[in-house]
Amino acid sequence: MCGIIGYVGSQKASHVITEGLKRLEYRGYDSVGIAVRDGNSLNVKKDKGMVEEVSNSLDFVSIGGTIGLGHTRWATHGAVCKANSHPHADCKNSIILAHNGVIENFVELKHELEKKGHKFASETDSEIIAHLLEDGIKSKTMLESFLSSLKRLEGSYAIVAMTSAGEEKLFVARRNSPLVIGVGKGEMLCASDIPAMLKHTKTFVPLEEGDVAVLSRDGYNIYSLEGAEVTRKQITVDWGLDIAQKGGYPHFMLREINDQKHFINESLASDVTEGKKLIDQHSRIDIVAAGTSYHAGLMLSYLLSQTGKSAQAFIASDYSFVAKPNKDTLMVVITQSGETADVLQAMRFADKCKKLAITNTVGSSVTRLADCTILMNSGPEIGVAATKTFTSQLAVIFKLVFPKEKLSNLSQIISQMLEQEDAIKKIAPTLVAKENVFFIARGGNVPIAYEASLKFKEITYIHSEAYPGGELKHGTLSLITNGVPVIVLAPSDATLSKLFGNLKEAKARGGTILSITNDDSIKNESDFSIPLPKNIDPILYPFALIVPLQLLAYHVSVLRGINPDRPRNLAKSVTVE
Ligand code: AGP
Repeated sequence: MCGIIGYVGSQKASHVITEGLKRLEYRGYDSVGIAVRDGNSLNVKKDKGMVEEVSNSLDFVSIGGTIGLGHTRWATHGAVCKANSHPHADCKNSIILAHNGVIENFVELKHELEKKGHKFASETDSEIIAHLLEDGIKSKTMLESFLSSLKRLEGSYAIVAMTSAGEEKLFVARRNSPLVIGVGKGEMLCASDIPAMLKHTKTFVPLEEGDVAVLSRDGYNIYSLEGAEVTRKQITVDWGLDIAQKGGYPHFMLREINDQKHFINESLASDVTEGKKLIDQHSRIDIVAAGTSYHAGLMLSYLLSQTGKSAQAFIASDYSFVAKPNKDTLMVVITQSGETADVLQAMRFADKCKKLAITNTVGSSVTRLADCTILMNSGPEIGVAATKTFTSQLAVIFKLVFPKEKLSNLSQIISQMLEQEDAIKKIAPTLVAKENVFFIARGGNVPIAYEASLKFKEITYIHSEAYPGGELKHGTLSLITNGVPVIVLAPSDATLSKLFGNLKEAKARGGTILSITNDDSIKNESDFSIPLPKNIDPILYPFALIVPLQLLAYHVSVLRGINPDRPRNLAKSVTVE
């Protein structure tokens, strides 16, 4: 998954693009590049490395010209190296482009083009698009060549392309990878997401599947793949520029953990009316998601099952192998990006089902495949590790099941738990040198243990696992030896007494116990303890439990010298299967 951006207008394109790439870096950050036209001279700079480092070393902003494009990469095809970084050009450097997605038939296309004499400079799938375009413009206009080339491609793409001479236009297209047009005054932009363009406009046009567009400083035209002009809705956002900034925090992740006390109310304001109707109308509910969103899905399946509904959560990438949906099945997909390829694939597999989407991204691919969409309204999340989008998903899920009145003090609960940060910072050093950390819970708190474990391992690089507490004795207890940390999620609800036993089992084998609890007996048995509020409705414990565990993961990550916003090997939205 990568970030792409394009600009045409009267500003210095290299400035606009470099700034935009910094805001897109959460989408992939192993290499970066820029191409800017100044009249008929094309200047391309690219290398492996992060945006700040490469844009400084190659002096991106020194490039003159008012039309250009840029790319920040998360490698799919081809090693992380200068040659494989984008932008990519054709044989004659007459066409230059950036691409996000995966061209599944690139091998056969590459062989076809090589037989025609095309020479390739990289191992990437993306480069073949430039050579297809080069082939096409021998007999067609650039737009005609663009349309015919796109029809040859199988797989996913968001593309921004331009010629090195002639009309100063950007040619853009999307299929299963996000691309949004930014509508400025005397300037046009395009990018993988809105925050990259917020400095220049608040008016946007999210492109739809298969859309092709031509941007010039005077405006834009959108076409279907067949070349027919189409109209798409313009949207305006009221986000301030600061929304994509750190707001005084050292990392986006810490800002977003703290922002939960505000955005939880934005999410509770979401309209779930139609979603509730769909759930009520179906006897079988398949919940499909990945990663953190899957843990929110587990929470939804638990809550719906408590109401007597048949509801099961599935890992999106496995759904087509294990599920047999039918026309009576309601598929509920949960995905903050709305672009997770595993989720989109599962939705296409369940072609007979009604689909309800819970997402954070207006105009994303899932919204086009769903019959009904509930927006989470948690604002853009820049840190790769999901935090505020998780609690936003929980807020929407709880609103689907409980009357809104029961959820009115969530912001206050989250604020109370945020106040524990100093205590958590004191505990963090005890985990920094550990090799394994275990999380246990019971009942409706188990999805929170899974989420806490994922958060912990993805940003501290320490191995972690989570279990329903009663499961430790069926094998994993063999790993609990002297000093192994066991983090016990132990609110005083119906799970407490059994969980107390599991805590004792781990303690008896030398485990170091960290509890999150409002029960004195649990606290007295713990080496470390983080207090939960005593006077809250037990159904709200998941919100109180996850916040300190997000903070714990964050502080251990920072102590280990890791940038929690950019964990190695990961990307914010995984648009490949
Ligand atoms: C969680 O911290 C990760 N960023 C990852 O597991 C993420 O939740 C997963 O890729 C699903 O993303 P989505 O919600 O955009 O579909």
